[in-house]
Amino acid sequence: MGPPAGERRQFASDNYAGICPEAWAEAGEANAGHVPAYGDDPWTARAADLLRELFETDCDVFFVFNGTSANSLALASLCQSYHSILCSETAHVETDECGAPEFFSNGTKVLTVAGKDGKVDPTGVEWMVRRRTDIHYPKPRAVSLTQATELGTVYTPDELKAVWAKAKSHNLRIHMDGARFANAVASLGCAPKEITWQAGVDVLCFGGTKNGMAAGEAVVFFDRQLAKEFDYRCKQAGQLASKMRFLAAPWVGMLKDGAWLRHATHSNAMAELLHSLVKDLPGVKVLYPRQANSIFLELPRRVREGMHERGWRFYDFIGWGGARLMCSWDTAPEEVRAFARDLSELAREAGR
Ligand SMILES: Cc1ncc(COP(=O)(O)O)c(C=O)c1O
Repeated sequence: MGPPAGERRQFASDNYAGICPEAWAEAGEANAGHVPAYGDDPWTARAADLLRELFETDCDVFFVFNGTSANSLALASLCQSYHSILCSETAHVETDECGAPEFFSNGTKVLTVAGKDGKVDPTGVEWMVRRRTDIHYPKPRAVSLTQATELGTVYTPDELKAVWAKAKSHNLRIHMDGARFANAVASLGCAPKEITWQAGVDVLCFGGTKNGMAAGEAVVFFDRQLAKEFDYRCKQAGQLASKMRFLAAPWVGMLKDGAWLRHATHSNAMAELLHSLVKDLPGVKVLYPRQANSIFLELPRRVREGMHERGWRFYDFIGWGGARLMCSWDTAPEEVRAFARDLSELAREAGR
């Protein structure tokens, strides 16, 4: 069944999409009989094992309800209350989590550092660490990197290693917001380990929701020391699911035969198709390199309003503005073409 008649799939957010068949089916499988609660069930064990297999290492895994809690609790496990967290100016932890990273770590300060196209770069880290070293300023302790970034770009393994070298030299830990981690892996064509623990990542928040699940992010600790008592942190924050099997089973469905990567590859391909159809339209400017499942366009006001009038929804406030067009696991090429056709008509009209 597709979207209801008269409703089209939109480009506003990958959160607009429903649940993919693999996640849905496995949740159905899990919906049988009684099993122990609070994560002490076979689905949670299997999902964690599949993640260990995927990352080819013996990591500790926890499932929480959403990305904000995953990021905030993971960062809290890296920091004391008097520490600071360095991230990009456009990082979700800075702009879209309502202060939760500071709240859950009892007062850390999130500090933004310079970088291009939504990334943190090592010189930005160096500048911020050296800016103040006195007792009156929060002590830098963690770098938070988003992979893929909020601007739809992707860190290469070498870029990550350069940040890691800088972080190590200042005794900083690395957190990765992987709300769209699957899109980054699909884009780079690398093994997940190459852009996580082999590039210095201590803890990854691996996004399931944007990849096609209803809810449920995996917090993956590559430094297992940091995971100590994380279960208590989750419980206190209201993030310990009593019927955990329903957060975990969709992960089994996604991981057991590679659906996570197929869906990410598809949404990236849809963004590439959209990019190819709109990049040369008059008055339209592509703002950042297309590397994952989104593109950002600067549009003349009339064109943007015209698209909204034609029923297309997209956000204008992410990053530095511009229209963010986000593709999902279920975005269809016909919808991409329909969007591009409308944009092309309006752009050409505006240019006359
Ligand atoms: C980069 C990034 N991180 C994390 C999240 C997770 O947010 P939420 O708490 O809404 O699941 C999002 C969602 O928009 C995101 O874009």
